[in-house]
Amino acid sequence: MSRNIDELIRNMTLEEKASLCSGADLWHTKKVDRLEIPDIKLSDGPHGMRTQDDKSDNLGINESLEAVCFPPAALSACSFDRELIREEGKAIGKEAMAFHVSTVLGPAVNMKRSPLCGRNFEYYSEDPYLAGEIASAFVEGVQSEGVGTSVKHFAANNQETYRMSNDSIIDERTLREIYLSAFEKTVKQAKPTTLMCSYNRINGVYASENRWLLNDVLREEWGFDGLVMSDWNAVNDRPLGVHAGLDLEMPSSNGVNDREIVEAVESGKLDEKDLDKTVKRILTAIYRYQDNKRDVELDLDSDHELSRKIAESSMVLLKNEDNILPLSPREKILFVGEFFEKPRFQGGGSSHINSHLIVSAEDAMEGKELSYYYSKGFSSKRDELDEESFEMILSVAENMDKVVVFAGLPESFESEGYDRDHMRLPDSQNDMIDALLSANENVVVVLSNGSPVEMPWNDEVKGVLEGYLGGEASGEAVIKILYGEINPSGKLAETFPMYLEDNPSYLNFGERKETHYNEGVFIGYRYYDKKKMNVLYPFGHGLSYTKFVYSNLNIEKSAKNDRDVLYTISFDVTNSGYVEGSEVAQVYVGDNTGAAVRPEKELKGFEKITLKPQETKKVTIELFERDFEWYNTEIHDWYAKDGSYTIYVGSSSRDIRLEGEIELELKKELPFVVDFNTTIGELRMHEDKFKKAKKLVEAVEKVYGFASDEEDDEKNNKGMLNAMITVTPLRNIYMFGIMEKDAVSKEIEILNEN
Ligand code: BGC
Repeated sequence: MSRNIDELIRNMTLEEKASLCSGADLWHTKKVDRLEIPDIKLSDGPHGMRTQDDKSDNLGINESLEAVCFPPAALSACSFDRELIREEGKAIGKEAMAFHVSTVLGPAVNMKRSPLCGRNFEYYSEDPYLAGEIASAFVEGVQSEGVGTSVKHFAANNQETYRMSNDSIIDERTLREIYLSAFEKTVKQAKPTTLMCSYNRINGVYASENRWLLNDVLREEWGFDGLVMSDWNAVNDRPLGVHAGLDLEMPSSNGVNDREIVEAVESGKLDEKDLDKTVKRILTAIYRYQDNKRDVELDLDSDHELSRKIAESSMVLLKNEDNILPLSPREKILFVGEFFEKPRFQGGGSSHINSHLIVSAEDAMEGKELSYYYSKGFSSKRDELDEESFEMILSVAENMDKVVVFAGLPESFESEGYDRDHMRLPDSQNDMIDALLSANENVVVVLSNGSPVEMPWNDEVKGVLEGYLGGEASGEAVIKILYGEINPSGKLAETFPMYLEDNPSYLNFGERKETHYNEGVFIGYRYYDKKKMNVLYPFGHGLSYTKFVYSNLNIEKSAKNDRDVLYTISFDVTNSGYVEGSEVAQVYVGDNTGAAVRPEKELKGFEKITLKPQETKKVTIELFERDFEWYNTEIHDWYAKDGSYTIYVGSSSRDIRLEGEIELELKKELPFVVDFNTTIGELRMHEDKFKKAKKLVEAVEKVYGFASDEEDDEKNNKGMLNAMITVTPLRNIYMFGIMEKDAVSKEIEILNEN
């Protein structure tokens, strides 16, 4: 078997090269027997292995090999725990190796633009920094086992409606700051072996043939040197794809697109050198796996334990009035809702795992000497009340200490392939919660859902535990949290708006042809904060059974070192309660310079720490240049204006405990070229030029008959005149005949000289 890839390529026929560029079937690349080139296998992902053998399909319909279902991304992101997610990646990497899989198809880092996206359960966050950090940890974990990853879906794939043809219309700044950012971070930080391009178009061009995206940005700017594969059947024009940098088409296109590659090379439409680059990247992936492969024993039981640990560290205690939780072993509890016995712990579609050991809350209660009663009450599959038991449940509820309702979205409400059309729970569940509230004032709701729901009963219930989709061990994690064996420490990785209509994408989501991202960079908390809106639960929120106190904020300007650390932020966090607990301390940065319309603040650092009662730990977070910057479309680059920035340290985006201000000094100058359309206001922003432009400024003042020495403010209405002057372009000087055009032009030339 030859390992000299360049030599192999030289020995390949055009047809052999083209054949390597698409899959043999749903999950394998093609072999080239003549040259003894082996194939490799790919498998979903992201939160566990969905490895299929012969009866393959890519939508999770046929059973795959038994594997552990870890909590989907919507929940695991709430752990805010890089180390734990690295462990998850490692475990999944090991399972992949045991299944002879070269590449895990994940993580999925698309932004949660709308709570309605059917696939939000597979995505980490509405915040690109958090998604990028968590995805990097996952990639590092998987790849430490010698298995590759495929960061998906690149890019701007934020709805399922017409996902294979929809055009995401996004301005450059928004694309860079929000929709590419998590990919950029993961590529630079964790060096994934592959990326998966998305189905949709971006500003008119399919991701699978978007040279700007796959080559200029991904490879040339970010330095990605791995392979790009298509999402399954995402290819539109294969030769264009090869030219753009799409290496592997998945799955097979039955030879059609291979032939198109051959014809395009023969007709001169496609340069064979482009094809060679593609083939080289595919061969590199194949031989990387060949070099790394080894026999691994599956240990699904220990992976199950890890899955539980992740669920325990991620579930979010949203509300805990009167310390209704934890439940005491002495209390009589009524559990209601079919999710108690039939948990909904993963989402539908290509990530669907044939789970190793599903533990429901009911299973987890087994053998425990606790006083409880369970009644189904409503279906976990449909919007359907269990009429027969309704009255009985209410009379039991009256005699119980507390009632815990297991509510959630039935599987059919959200899935890959379609979006939700509302944000509500089934009516039967809301009705049941209302009825229970009239029978017992101590009601707790446990939620199983992949994405936010409206909670019309939020003010009345005393406790809400957001369990999301918790993976196969979700039942154990929920019971341990409810009874206080585990102290909850998850924080929301997305905002829960009050109503769907509050969401910034509400007016522009789910279109068939073009989806306009009109809200720009104001996605999630960036929007709700800017608009000072009430939300149901804010980004970063999550309660604990203990309390944390923040103190001693210290901001130190670092001597610039080669990693470009600009500031080191440190502060103390103390556990002021009586039980051990973990806190996610969050650092946000806000720009006060007014250089651009920016969010109030953006997450730029976090750390999860575990503290014993009364223990204090110092948290240190480094801030880099990029943490202050926004994407400036004048220079097509990242930029921050020098001046004042606020550092916010908090327990959530709306629970800021410490604040400090810094004076940023990067000395990044924006190019400023004066022309006839430059206004006096713009000149004023550049002090040196403004001084030199005295003649022109005076000429503009004359345009308005501005008498600077006139004392009578009222007659002169200086405020108004000044405003007019500010917005006046230099061309008005000659148009009003104050100076000749040539003379104005000369003055401008002088201003533009350095
Ligand atoms: C999904 C991908 C998945 C692929 C293979 C596609 O439908 O969008 O996320 O990896 O199928 O199952």
